[in-house]
Amino acid sequence: MESTLSGKRILLVVGGGIAAYKALDLIRRLRERGAAVTPILTAAGAQFVTPLAVGALSATHVYDDLFSRDDEQDVGHIRLAREADLILVAPATADRMAQMAAGLAGDLAGAVLLAARCPILLAPAMNPAMWMHPATRRNAALLERDGIGFVGPEHGEMAEAGESGLGRMSEPLAIVAAVEARLSAQGGKPLSGRRAVVTSGPTHEPIDPVRYIANRSSGRQGHAVAEALAEAGAQVTLVSGPVSIPDPAGVHVVRVETALQMLAAVEAALPADIGVFVAAVADWRAAEPASDKIKKRVGEAPGPLALTENPDILATIGHGPGRPRLVVGFAAETSSLMGNARAKLERKGADMIVANDVSGDVMGGTRNRVHLLTAAGAEDWPELPKAEVARRLARRFATMLGDME
Ligand code: CTP
Repeated sequence: MESTLSGKRILLVVGGGIAAYKALDLIRRLRERGAAVTPILTAAGAQFVTPLAVGALSATHVYDDLFSRDDEQDVGHIRLAREADLILVAPATADRMAQMAAGLAGDLAGAVLLAARCPILLAPAMNPAMWMHPATRRNAALLERDGIGFVGPEHGEMAEAGESGLGRMSEPLAIVAAVEARLSAQGGKPLSGRRAVVTSGPTHEPIDPVRYIANRSSGRQGHAVAEALAEAGAQVTLVSGPVSIPDPAGVHVVRVETALQMLAAVEAALPADIGVFVAAVADWRAAEPASDKIKKRVGEAPGPLALTENPDILATIGHGPGRPRLVVGFAAETSSLMGNARAKLERKGADMIVANDVSGDVMGGTRNRVHLLTAAGAEDWPELPKAEVARRLARRFATMLGDME
């Protein structure tokens, strides 16, 4: 069996209708080809197949209720939509098509479909009279205009005795072929097949069990870079220091506290094609962290805190044996921005330094003004949301990797 869908994340909405039983086989066929299938069983779908059967075949959690507190806390419909490479609705009922055409989001499937940015494919199944009804024709035309794809329906016998016509859901293998075609035509994933490692957030360096040295990094820029690389198709490991923002979608997250742990986690994530070092690593750690809490003595300040240097993670990897082909550092500067960044490029063995002026409220803020520095020269970008900086960087990295080959 060829793994034509290897690494692809398919969100499968199982709608109502007797054809729902074919969705079970469909899950098996998609998984055989390497896809990860996350099912959403609609209320109508659950009248035809059980959550147990769908869950057993997909080997994952089955989502079925927009207002399930567990499901919402766990993932949330926006995230569910964003994590998918493709959303497949099989069977797609006349009712679902009408809801989608109208942009209704009354159940989890509707909300996910409305929030989706990935391709959507419908495998309709309904009585031929319903398929041919002018309302369904109108809805199908609207959905097509919105860029939604269709596979089927086919001519054939209906469940209703003696009826035949256009309305049978396509066979699972035909649906799989349509999924493959849609995903390969999609393109837009300039980093697919690439591996990336990204560091993000601050590090915490213990002084004693309750105190630590840290900095104000929020992790926003690093997390956004990791998410953008994943959106561009890369397989991403994000090594994150302690942050209070959510994990980015579609990324493998390794949580660490100290610089030493961060370096070890980055090394464990190699080999990679791209290394992006966004973390604000503490430059020093306590030379000898106390194993017990240092007690306060009234009128007596503790002696000076002896510090020792942390490894420079970027420089270690940038000059190291398992160096990713493309190594990118960030430089947070408050003065002599470009001069400092230029020196860093060489010292750290990086192909690019993304320099940002942190004299404003960049640390913790949502926008960023960056300057790119490579051996070829400098480039100034306008102030942009951190997510947009990340998306543009992901595209740039894809071009740079392509040029290196
Ligand atoms: N970096 C790292 N490990 C460290 C320190 C920094 O990986 N121990 C990385 C950061 O992730 C960033 C780049 O190095 O990509 C620049 O870090 P910065 O702290 O700005 O540079 P420094 O080398 O510490 O220089 P200075 O303190 O003089 O600015």
